Amino acid sequence: MSNRRKFIQNSVLGSAGILLSAKVVSASSSDTTIKKPIVVSTWNFGVQANEAAWKVLAEKGHALDAVEAGVRVPEADPKGNSVGYGGLPDREGRVTLDACIMDEKYNCGSVMCIEHIMHPISVARLVMEKTPHIVLSGEGALRFALANGFKKQNLLTPQSEKAWKEWLKTSNYSPSMNIENQSYSKENDPMPGGPDNHDTIGMLALDVNGNLSGACTTSGLAYKIHGRVGDSPIIGAGLYVDPEVGAATATGVGEEVIRIVGAHLIIELMRQGYAPEAACKEATQRIIKRNPEKSKTIQVAFLALDKNGNYGAYALQKGFTFAVKSGTEEKLINAKSIY
Ligand code: GLY
Repeated sequence: MSNRRKFIQNSVLGSAGILLSAKVVSASSSDTTIKKPIVVSTWNFGVQANEAAWKVLAEKGHALDAVEAGVRVPEADPKGNSVGYGGLPDREGRVTLDACIMDEKYNCGSVMCIEHIMHPISVARLVMEKTPHIVLSGEGALRFALANGFKKQNLLTPQSEKAWKEWLKTSNYSPSMNIENQSYSKENDPMPGGPDNHDTIGMLALDVNGNLSGACTTSGLAYKIHGRVGDSPIIGAGLYVDPEVGAATATGVGEEVIRIVGAHLIIELMRQGYAPEAACKEATQRIIKRNPEKSKTIQVAFLALDKNGNYGAYALQKGFTFAVKSGTEEKLINAKSIY
């Protein structure tokens, strides 16, 4: 059993309040009642992240505060090896993090390839709120964070260092994330521990006042070339929020999401009348259209929330889950998939 899988099980099992009400179901929401507040987020770790976001939403807080608080949970968890502290490093053994955040006024902030900072999402928010810029990267992002009171920390846990040293023995690199179909080859997986040991948290929230916000944060592909940036901190690719329509986020192989500007594509499809799930499905089909063979060997998944609180998701491969929390629902849902 992979460490990530153990973490997920422990998290859910150890969280009785969540387990009692969080059911794994196959479903999507498409009715027309406005449901607010509501928060949705990617993967099993979304259950705990939603819980933190809900504390803000339940107190009539702003969606932006909710998504920041929510994604800070996996960022700080050393047992998760795909986000923040404990994230698997690049091929030089450096943990480099990507994150972005966006609110209902098209305000957005992003950090790319930042090192030594446990909460890149909070740095991204500071970029948004305290600078005239949207993106800071690398050394500049680190200096900005340190100048604003963030602490420099070693994010490479002994477990992730061990995995990296093991990987160095072969240095075999061919990204293949979260795949549970027959194309998946454990032998060729560059992320030791199996197919569920890497991914991004993307979170979307609609607060009681109807404000939408989103956040997305990741350590990116394990053993990437130093300096590689995925979709997660790219506004429009890994995350987009449009108050007239809704919000969308992505997870999986970022290069494929960037090519189709995934999150923005979903927003534009919803603007044309697509329901959230249908828009996410259409985005996955764009990836397939570009490269049908490759699309069978990688995972990409999308999650969307419209301005009325309807949500939906779709993935290339089986195995993508997303968590939902509202006043009436608390669920972990198995998303539909193409393959
Ligand atoms: N979606 C995360 C990444 O590709 O870095």
